[in-house]
Amino acid sequence: MEIEVFSECMKRGHEQVVFFNYPQVGLKAIVGIHNTVLGPALGGCRMRIYESEDQALDDVLRLSEGMTYKSSMAGLDLGGGKSCIMVDPHLEEGRRELFLKFGECLNHLNGRYITAEDMGTSVSDIMVMREVTKYAAGYSSEEGGSGDPSPWTARGVFNSIVAACERKYNSKDLKGRHISVQGTGHVGIHLVKMLKEAGATVTVCDNDKEALNNARNNYEVEVVEPEAIYDVDCDVYAPCAIGQTVNPDTIKRLKCDIIAGAANNQLSDESVYSMLEAKGILYCPDFVINAGGVISVAGEYNEGGWNEEWVTEKVKNIYHTIHRVLDESEKRGRFPEVVAVELAKERIREAEEKKKAG
Ligand SMILES: NC(=O)c1ccc[n+]([C@@H]2O[C@H](COP(=O)([O-])OP(=O)(O)OC[C@H]3O[C@@H](n4cnc5c(N)ncnc54)[C@H](O)[C@@H]3O)[C@@H](O)[C@H]2O)c1
Repeated sequence: MEIEVFSECMKRGHEQVVFFNYPQVGLKAIVGIHNTVLGPALGGCRMRIYESEDQALDDVLRLSEGMTYKSSMAGLDLGGGKSCIMVDPHLEEGRRELFLKFGECLNHLNGRYITAEDMGTSVSDIMVMREVTKYAAGYSSEEGGSGDPSPWTARGVFNSIVAACERKYNSKDLKGRHISVQGTGHVGIHLVKMLKEAGATVTVCDNDKEALNNARNNYEVEVVEPEAIYDVDCDVYAPCAIGQTVNPDTIKRLKCDIIAGAANNQLSDESVYSMLEAKGILYCPDFVINAGGVISVAGEYNEGGWNEEWVTEKVKNIYHTIHRVLDESEKRGRFPEVVAVELAKERIREAEEKKKAG
């Protein structure tokens, strides 16, 4: 893979890509700012070892574009951004210095990009950056920040499952509905709790013993081996673990009417659109329904700071948004994910036109 930065930016529509290189503290970072029409570009900072610089760049470009659509569909006045630090995430010695420097780097961008926690980074890294910049979000609730985003993400997914069931079965009632939840980590466990409270039958799997026991010991759930989750005869499959679990191999096995979960990038590629349609499976686009977390983090930038009511209202609205996406999907005759991107772009285009008109 070889990426030509400008051609790729032209293709995907990025406004700005910035490279920071400070060998004094071992910092090698890329910041991708995809679109700032609706507001500053918000998106997490990934810390990981990449096989190549191209792979890191590809990650930043792809993920920052995705954030634009997620925030747009969540009704946030934010754009899409993402960053990566090409360093071993287990780094201990010099970690503080590295994040202080990255925080300073964000100041150079003057608020066009706001970072947050992502794979390989933690709330403590955010707290270090906050010593030098206000452009690092997702800090602890004890400090007045938004705290753990996972319960909010789970709430948005739950609301979407209700909406999808309403469409499929003409009833919002989840009593007696069977939902299989793949992954009982941060988001999955909150989702299980809400589903059980709503009277659903829940089957779970996780390849981590502790996460699985957390579900098994606290809720009445069926447990299956991770690989067996695709064979569960259920109403809703909720992927809450890793990406690309909906692929040609698993679709053959899935026995569900609805797919609605928290995991990012659930679909392996575009070829699965027609396969899902052929099986009559209703797909709720992941970036629309897992926006609860980003909504909560965004809440830190409200006037007066993070506010539970504001976040609750926005997360509730995911229910209406998913209905709108699925209505439009039927009207336009295109797959829900395609239509969700179209709607996200339409909101941005309208905002741009409004700005131009003054
Ligand atoms: N945390 C959030 O607020 C948030 C927001 C948006 C999207 N997401 C996405 O939702 C997903 C879950 O996030 P999380 O924060 O709960 O992560 P997490 O790491 O806390 O939980 C994921 C769980 O999945 C399990 N798992 C991994 N591979 C598995 C497999 N093949 N089969 C079964 N279980 C498996 C892990 O052991 C872990 O317990 C991720 O894809 C994440 O990117 C999370």
